Amino acid sequence: MSDEQKSHARPAPLLRTIHVGVGNRGQWPLRFAVPAAGFQPVALVDTHPSVLAQAGRDHPGIPAFAELEAALAAVEADAAIICSPTQFHTTQGKMCLAAGLHILVEKGLAPTLDAARETVAAAAAAGRALCVAQNYRYQSMERTVARLINDPSHPCYIGEPFLIEYTQHRQRPHPRTLNYPFASVWDMSCHHFDNLLSWLGGGFATITAKTFGPPWSRYQHPNNTSLQLAHRSGCMVHYLHTHDAAINEIRIRIQGRLGAAVLDDTSVRTCRRGDLQLQQEPLVSVTPEEHLGEAGVLADFYRHAVRDEPVGISGSENLNAMALCDATCRSSVSGKTVSIAAFDCGEKAMPASIPTK
Ligand SMILES: NC(=O)c1ccc[n+]([C@@H]2O[C@H](COP(=O)([O-])OP(=O)(O)OC[C@H]3O[C@@H](n4cnc5c(N)ncnc54)[C@H](O)[C@@H]3O)[C@@H](O)[C@H]2O)c1
Repeated sequence: MSDEQKSHARPAPLLRTIHVGVGNRGQWPLRFAVPAAGFQPVALVDTHPSVLAQAGRDHPGIPAFAELEAALAAVEADAAIICSPTQFHTTQGKMCLAAGLHILVEKGLAPTLDAARETVAAAAAAGRALCVAQNYRYQSMERTVARLINDPSHPCYIGEPFLIEYTQHRQRPHPRTLNYPFASVWDMSCHHFDNLLSWLGGGFATITAKTFGPPWSRYQHPNNTSLQLAHRSGCMVHYLHTHDAAINEIRIRIQGRLGAAVLDDTSVRTCRRGDLQLQQEPLVSVTPEEHLGEAGVLADFYRHAVRDEPVGISGSENLNAMALCDATCRSSVSGKTVSIAAFDCGEKAMPASIPTK
């Protein structure tokens, strides 16, 4: 039997998972982290008694704990999936890494760039995998954009972009957890920044940003962001993001060497660059890529933890998204164009499909 045959013959290990934060966003991993995907939940942790009790009823037979320390002491596990609020990610992540677990942390990895670096360093020191659940890059629209600008074999390939206009307005009148300075940047723009990194790769050089908000908003801090980003490839990004907007929409325009991509909430269209002055080329509808969603996040976490394969959502890759959040805040406070910290990664790593174990 060849080495390759032997490795295929080896049974794929199940990762026994501790689920930290099992209400709200913490519910998705319990739906997807099943043995068929390579996971076996072994503990539920939540500080809210009624949330914990409900999760226990929904997932009978899994021990429930009010504190992470107690779960770590009581059960044997290989990994933790941390969906508590962002402010707890660093402490809880480091605690799990110190106990020898791989960790998948909800976005944002941490509430500051320094805390994110600390968590990534702790994972490296422990020799354990750290991934961030940046689920947007696994969605249909984002995966379609990635192919349109990176895959010359795609029939609607538009070539390398020189301009991206990226707008998302979110109708979210109640601030809820977005109650700290620059919350909308760390909470939501991190998704957009991660998308941009997955499309263009690392290499954002400078940023000019302004956060703002109207006096009548329920948001205590400016919750809207307008910015310009310069990528070393020469591509400029104009980005606009609002929370508490009166409209709910996504609008993306990308101009590339061969043509343009026009994306709205439900459609992706492209047009070729013609040679006639002021002539409007026809827009062609693009067949969207498969939506991988959270199953894609878990598949990459498994791949990274078990097979040590590089993935776009690894903690070290995610530092570039955190650096963009950090630079947005610095530019907005200083009113100046600032440079963006670069981390040694930023490959355009996108999963082609959900792998089997
Ligand atoms: N990827 C996405 O699309 C997406 C969407 C929403 C939220 N999120 C992220 O998920 C995380 C949780 O967000 P949420 O809105 O569900 O928050 P939340 O405030 O509702 O908390 C989630 C759960 O964690 C529990 N919890 C709070 N403190 C805890 C602690 N110290 N230890 C254990 N459990 C604790 C809460 O009781 C709750 O059940 C955040 O990091 C957020 O940014 C990601």
